[in-house]
Amino acid sequence: MGEGMAIVTTNLTKRFKDFTAVSGIDLEVSRGQIYGLLGPNGAGKSTTIRMICGVLTPSEGEGKVLGYDIYTQTENIKQSIGYMSQRFSLYEDLTVWENLDFYASIYSLANTVKKDRMTELVRMAGLERKERVLAAHLSGGWKQRLALGCALVHKPRLLILDEPTAGVDPVSRRIFWELIFRLAEQGVTILVTTHYMDEAESCDRVAFIFGGKVLAVGTPSELIERRRGKNLEDVFISYVEEQTGQKVSSSFNEMKFIREGQEGENA
Ligand SMILES: Nc1ncnc2c1ncn2[C@@H]1O[C@H](COP(=O)(O)OP(=O)(O)OP(=O)(O)O)[C@@H](O)[C@H]1O
Ligand SMILES: [Mg+2]
Repeated sequence: MGEGMAIVTTNLTKRFKDFTAVSGIDLEVSRGQIYGLLGPNGAGKSTTIRMICGVLTPSEGEGKVLGYDIYTQTENIKQSIGYMSQRFSLYEDLTVWENLDFYASIYSLANTVKKDRMTELVRMAGLERKERVLAAHLSGGWKQRLALGCALVHKPRLLILDEPTAGVDPVSRRIFWELIFRLAEQGVTILVTTHYMDEAESCDRVAFIFGGKVLAVGTPSELIERRRGKNLEDVFISYVEEQTGQKVSSSFNEMKFIREGQEGENA
């Protein structure tokens, strides 16, 4: 195992005091795949991602990212991956160009290649003629594409996106996903969390995350066939019902407050 795998985790677990946010997660993400983590609020997606990025130490379990160990080689991981956190990590008081320049410096891009790379990313993100606009003045969709550009300055082979399109309008979401598909065609591996069903259906492979656990993994069509569901949402709900032993009467989007054994409570 490991050959051809961009990410492998076994029994990945994170406890915060006596609360287990992530509980024994096994993942295998092949190189070049678009891999989706689908789950409602509080499912443990961001916590899982943060351990994979090397910014949070697991309580238990193992993991390798691009061959680097998630305990001992976190600096290598951080240098090798592109990461877009759930809250875009842009500097609002810097312009589009200055944000890219800042990230290029963080990743120590040589001056000889820096300007070309930044110009390429401006074009990719469709931000031509907006180079001098402050990030604060960009609308959601532009901001998100600038953040993607910043995450790509060093040409990472693995891109990790934590709910990159939350709160962005449908047209911008579609444009963003076109960029994701293009990156995947170029061989970039993409791990993306979402709670949008249409986005999950666009992934090569999806893991359902709920209550800190993986409930099921497969291609979207495999998952639907396995449960003879109408769509991915149906299938997700059927797995949650099996896990909790409770009937879920709400839609996926209304599942926000459900955790195992405490349905309806805001605990
Ligand atoms: N530093 C922390 N200390 C205590 N509890 C935490 C901490 N970080 C996360 N949690 C808890 O762990 C659970 C999982 O959180 P996480 O942010 O991973 O979920 P998520 O799937 O990313 O949800 P969302 O869709 O809201 O982003 C939540 O109940 C959260 O409150
Ligand atoms: Mg999150």
